[in-house]
Amino acid sequence: MELYIDTANIEDIREIAAWGVLSGATTNPTLLSRESGDYDEIIREICDLVGGPVSAEVMSEDAEGMVMEAERLAGLDENVVIKLPMSPEGLSGARELNGQGVKTNVTLVFSANQALLAARAGATFVSPFVGRLDDIGHDSSQVLSDIVEVFAVNEFSTKVIAASIRHPLHVTEAALLGCDIATIPPDVYRKMVKHPLTDRGIASFKNDWEKAQARNREAAERLG
Ligand code: G3P
Repeated sequence: MELYIDTANIEDIREIAAWGVLSGATTNPTLLSRESGDYDEIIREICDLVGGPVSAEVMSEDAEGMVMEAERLAGLDENVVIKLPMSPEGLSGARELNGQGVKTNVTLVFSANQALLAARAGATFVSPFVGRLDDIGHDSSQVLSDIVEVFAVNEFSTKVIAASIRHPLHVTEAALLGCDIATIPPDVYRKMVKHPLTDRGIASFKNDWEKAQARNREAAERLG
């Protein structure tokens, strides 16, 4: 499973990109609204940092407007992927953009049937929102597993991005279920990398090493 970062914050992206684990990024209007500066410039900078697909969302409500916005956004960088909402207009926009060779990500997907529609419309990616499903007491793991299976059985090339990830267990679950990608917020990356036994292990290796060095120095002084 590939790992994307789900934020528009440049400092956070720079930090996690330095770990060497990122293949792409996703943004949305809410994430961009938390940042200051020119949004087109932010998208370009994210593209430079991750060197892979970067989703930028259109805000028009009709397919024609979405396609016009998409043409402008796609011109920002070759890695820009156009994010469209799961709606009749969004599907129609995805179909049109697919015909133009523009990559798309159909977002706000909450069921296997919505994912099936997005795949049939030719979407490059589909984004089921696991955290928001859990929030309303639905079984996000079942929805993800159904989508992965529907795509495998039907041999769709559309890739599944597990989105709205809220904690490390969501990431493990997405990987076990066979999602192609998980898009993960920076704070979840920071939780994933940590384990108390790792910290304790590093501290005890350091301690043992320093004690051995001191012993060796003392022995060398006694001899010499
Ligand atoms: O990738 C979609 C994500 O940004 C939505 O996350 O936490 O707002 O449900 P959340």
